[in-house]
Amino acid sequence: MYRVLSATGLSLLLLLAGCDASPPQVRSVDTGPGRIHFKNYCAACHQYDGQGMGDAPSLANSPWVSGPESRLIRIVLHGVRGPMLVDGKSYDREMPGFGQVLSDSEIASLLSFVRQQFSPSSEPVTVEMVTRVRSANRGRALYWRVDELLALQ
Ligand code: HEC
Repeated sequence: MYRVLSATGLSLLLLLAGCDASPPQVRSVDTGPGRIHFKNYCAACHQYDGQGMGDAPSLANSPWVSGPESRLIRIVLHGVRGPMLVDGKSYDREMPGFGQVLSDSEIASLLSFVRQQFSPSSEPVTVEMVTRVRSANRGRALYWRVDELLALQ
């Protein structure tokens, strides 16, 4: 009886796995851990609903979230400082970088979660992209300035 059940269970699993497979051209990143990292590392300032608070700008309706991922990844890796305009409001504060505490895959799932929540038409952020941006900026210790980020694609 046990064998019969497990064989059925297995084929059901295989069937489900088959249905779940995404077409190869669509990016897919598991955002489950991203939700937890967002809560642990970002929500204290940006709020869990992404609306921001006080000195921390909103992630919802932010051109930094929907814009080029190379900028978004840099902000999380090394931090950002200085004047910036988000959703019609200006900010002039600083945000610390998380490159020392978060791995590439943690940043990928975190930013994919951020985009899924606050800019659903944007693509998820892949681990490969985070790795590429991190290695292109190896040795960087300073926070990014807005004009430096805007000069990037
Ligand atoms: C200690 C508070 C703090 C934490 C924690 C924090 N941020 Fe920020 N963040 C800021 C501030 C302040 C700015 C604006 C900096 C400026 O004025 O130049 C900012 C700016 C940003 C921006 C660009 C502007 C916008 O709102 O879109 C993004 C994107 C961003 N943060 C994402 C994140 C993510 C993702 C995390 C978690 C890994 C995070 N932040 C953690 C304070 C924080």
